[in-house]
Amino acid sequence: MSTMTAPRPAARTNVAPLPVSTLAAKYWMAITGLLLVAFVLVHMAGNLLVYRGQDALNGYAKFLKGMGPMLWIARGGLLLVFLVHIGLAFRLSRRNRQARPIGYQVERTLRASLPSKYMLLTGLVILAFVIFHLAHYTLGIVHQVPVKDPQTGGEVMRDMLSLHDQQGRHDVYGMVILAFRQPVISLSYILAQLLLALHLYHGASSMFQSLGLNHSRYNALIQKVGAAVAVIVGVGNVSMPLTIMLGLVGQGYQPL
Ligand code: HEM
Repeated sequence: MSTMTAPRPAARTNVAPLPVSTLAAKYWMAITGLLLVAFVLVHMAGNLLVYRGQDALNGYAKFLKGMGPMLWIARGGLLLVFLVHIGLAFRLSRRNRQARPIGYQVERTLRASLPSKYMLLTGLVILAFVIFHLAHYTLGIVHQVPVKDPQTGGEVMRDMLSLHDQQGRHDVYGMVILAFRQPVISLSYILAQLLLALHLYHGASSMFQSLGLNHSRYNALIQKVGAAVAVIVGVGNVSMPLTIMLGLVGQGYQPL
């Protein structure tokens, strides 16, 4: 009599294995997301120098511009990371739709949190914000700012990029103060930063899962890290347009 036992059937799970390329896409989404979070935190820390005044913010901006080729390498790297992140987001969402072409009759949203459902939507709003933001502060083409005319003493409208401080430096402080004194600009930044916080809240915690660092023992901690990153970025970035719009910061500033 044979004592050989039949091979055991593979353990049943109700989760179908993901194709390798989908796993790779999720992995690179997470890596690029991590790099973007790092950029957002560093950029915010630099911008918060607005609370230390004109000299601090303009000095920091001058230091960055003085990095020359290094700055261009960083900008190129950031653009590449951003494009890969967006490209993979579209690819994964298309694949999700193809995998479920008819759609559930009853949507099972019990386990899907609000931010995870709206990840693609908030991502698209952030993309629109970044395009607007570059047109605003980097290209200076969104609006002009009122400046005193030395000859007539009256107000004239000038290009934001032409602003300079007493030391002849590009007046980034002036650009931020004059722009955020306008409620429409401030409110649109506030809305975009709240959506960014929502995106980061979900993204920061699902990133660990995609990197395989998800563990039942640490899940609560991971959720807290996601929430902390979202709150720090949300509070820090919303504070600037809000305090400037309310006249709590930069009240005495006058462009030269
Ligand atoms: C209230 C929030 C923010 C403020 C006050 C702010 C302010 C600025 C300013 C003043 C500049 C121009 C700097 C210069 O000319 O030297 C700039 C550039 C930039 N910002 Fe922001 N920013 C904010 C949020 C964000 C967010 C959330 C992102 C990305 C998701 C972002 C991405 C960028 C990029 C890519 C540049 C161009 C950097 C470069 O030219 O090297 N910013 N920002």
